[in-house]
Amino acid sequence: MADASLNAAAAPFGSIDALVQGLADCGYLADRRLATAVYLALRLQRPLLLEGEPGVGKTELAKALAAALRRELLRLQCYDGLEQREALYEWNYAAQLLHMRAAKARGSVEDIEAEVHQPRYLIRRPLLQALQAPPPGAVLLIDEVDRADEPFEAFLLEYLGEYQVSIPELGTVRAAVPPVTILTSNRTRELHDAVKRRCLYHWLDYPARERELAIVRARVPDAGAALSAQVADFVQRLRGQPFANAFQRAPGIAESVEWARALVALDTVSLDPEVVVDTAGILFKQRDDVAALNAQLATELLAPADGA
Ligand SMILES: Nc1ncnc2c1ncn2[C@@H]1O[C@H](COP(=O)(O)OP(=O)(O)OP(=O)(O)O)[C@@H](O)[C@H]1O
Ligand SMILES: [Mg+2]
Repeated sequence: MADASLNAAAAPFGSIDALVQGLADCGYLADRRLATAVYLALRLQRPLLLEGEPGVGKTELAKALAAALRRELLRLQCYDGLEQREALYEWNYAAQLLHMRAAKARGSVEDIEAEVHQPRYLIRRPLLQALQAPPPGAVLLIDEVDRADEPFEAFLLEYLGEYQVSIPELGTVRAAVPPVTILTSNRTRELHDAVKRRCLYHWLDYPARERELAIVRARVPDAGAALSAQVADFVQRLRGQPFANAFQRAPGIAESVEWARALVALDTVSLDPEVVVDTAGILFKQRDDVAALNAQLATELLAPADGA
């Protein structure tokens, strides 16, 4: 019933479970809702917009997905002032100039435009590379799109909606194989509705305790079961109410993993308030947050769940 191209795009993963497994094999532990969003993005060939706090695994998902699909990962890091020529293409002016000089010297300049706008003078940037990637196609990560400005968002619309771009000198470039496209945003600003409408959307939340523990275990096997569980519990409590409001920025999964690594490096067997305070700079990157994680708070958070 479904058309062949839809099946082909999702071919390696016939089900959401298979996708979860495929990502896990590449070191990424996704929960069911995220896996469903990714699965649908593959099946429907739609870009996926991932929003979430820093360090919750947005960028890593694109990397793991590319590995799981065995596709090349192309990455466009966005920033304020990002221009089309860095995202799509630019002409190699120096080479064009040399070409023209040589052609003039030979006295054989006929059609200047055609001479200098040959594909070999085109410098392909990630978007164009993604559109022209040979089968099985590429994964394009448009990372931190909220950092780019609105004109850039507007420029993305044609790509996101139709997997094509218009290059004045060459015409329209259309993808032979639609690139699997992941956009990420930290929500430093709201994206335009037109961008959102062209994408499937998933808010990537902090992980549940069990998933966070599994990630720490997988990423830092040296940490051992007991210490990893303490790390997961502690970070979960840090993020919980009412403490979450007291911090400017709660730790993400990245910080949990890094913290476990640091504790192993310090030969820590079990968490105590002292080591928590001494290593607070790994969980928090704001001076006030580091200061807020004092011995008293650490003691409270390390206490058994019933507060006894
Ligand atoms: N689901 C996951 N499975 C395994 N590891 C994960 C997962 N989520 C996050 N991580 C770990 O957390 C680290 C940081 O994740 P990542 O860089 O993708 O975060 P991010 O959401 O892109 O953050 P930022 O918004 O700051 O760019 C990864 O390198 C990885 O070690
Ligand atoms: Mg990221």
